[in-house]
Amino acid sequence: PFLLIPNRPSKKMTLYWLLHVCFCSRALSHTPVSLHINQTHHCKLLPGLVSSQAQLCRSNLELMQTIIAAAREVKKTCQKTFADMRWNCSSIDIPRFVLLFSTGTRESAFVYALSAAAISHTIARACTSGDLRLCSCGPIPGEIPEPGYRWGGCADNLHYGLVMGSKFSDAPMKMKKAGSHANKLMHLHNSEVGRQALRDALVMKCKCHGVSGSCSIRTCWRGLQDLKDIAMDLKTKYLSATKVVHRPMGTRKQLVPKDIDIRPVRENELVYLQSSPDFCAKNDKLGSIGTQDRQCNKTSIGSDSCDLMCCGRGYNPYTEKLVERCHCKYHWCCYVTCKKCERIVERYVCK
Ligand SMILES: *[C@@H]1O[C@H](CO)[C@@H](O)[C@H](O)[C@H]1NC(C)=O
Ligand SMILES: *[C@@H]1O[C@H](CO)[C@@H](O)[C@H](O)[C@H]1NC(C)=O
Ligand SMILES: *[C@@H]1O[C@H](CO)[C@@H](O)[C@H](O)[C@H]1NC(C)=O
Repeated sequence: PFLLIPNRPSKKMTLYWLLHVCFCSRALSHTPVSLHINQTHHCKLLPGLVSSQAQLCRSNLELMQTIIAAAREVKKTCQKTFADMRWNCSSIDIPRFVLLFSTGTRESAFVYALSAAAISHTIARACTSGDLRLCSCGPIPGEIPEPGYRWGGCADNLHYGLVMGSKFSDAPMKMKKAGSHANKLMHLHNSEVGRQALRDALVMKCKCHGVSGSCSIRTCWRGLQDLKDIAMDLKTKYLSATKVVHRPMGTRKQLVPKDIDIRPVRENELVYLQSSPDFCAKNDKLGSIGTQDRQCNKTSIGSDSCDLMCCGRGYNPYTEKLVERCHCKYHWCCYVTCKKCERIVERYVCK
């Protein structure tokens, strides 16, 4: 999503992706982060940036640092959000699965939407926390608050986040030579769906004041929900995503729903061009790791149930020893002591 991905990845493109992924995981696994972007020549160390992104990097190093943080959030949040699904977002890390993200599948729709939302989210929050010098708190809302409420605090700067975020994340799709027109339209649309989900996640947050927490007055500001909540919203959209085709509509070719009902694509729906595999079996070509050895839940009736997760192949039980804190005692004053208890639990993995 941060990258220019062609229709069919060449060797060079795969290398490109690999470098990008290596950079992200290296940044992830080592604290303090070894590559701290604080000099313009560091921008050259970031693989996969298109020219306008590299320019943005050189002109605003702090912003770039924030965007790198967003890339890490995307990976983490995607994997958490899809932990109970056959496709669990682990292939986001594997270069040979670049195809899954370049061919316009439902999974790439989700990843583009989440990436766009995450970049803008991270920038908006960085304005609030003072990490970015070129922006600060969002504006105080125009309307007069209800009695007992007053505007205060520091709002998340959604506007700045959206402007700078789309500048960065849409840059690859605005390049002339960036893959097929259909794919570009799809990625741009889904990125916008992600940003719309972010706009919808701007909520009123309040803090209580008053004598001994009586809450007689509340100070309120507009703040963004956490990225994991936005990701859950996008997961729902992923599950009901619409398959589209690239067809002439009026004077230009556009994406329209494949089904017979003739209607334009809706602003809040994720769209995809190509059906995905069922992710049951391992298939490198299709970008599927398969679900062998995945943990499943015997009592669940959802997507993590052993039936669905294992695609009817059955499952193997194993036992796990859990060590937990137990029999905790409070001692006056002020500490707690606990014992360690062991518990055996039965778990299941797909055959
Ligand atoms: C840039 O970041 C590195 C690593 O955090 C630090 O050692 C160095 O002092 C920084 N340079 C400047 C000019 O801030
Ligand atoms: C995702 O699934 C793969 C195999 O399908 C597994 O190896 C990996 O541990 C899973 N990742 C998470 C975060 O559950
Ligand atoms: C399995 O699913 C049930 C029902 O959804 C849930 O209560 C339980 O916590 C799950 N167990 C594990 C190990 O995730």
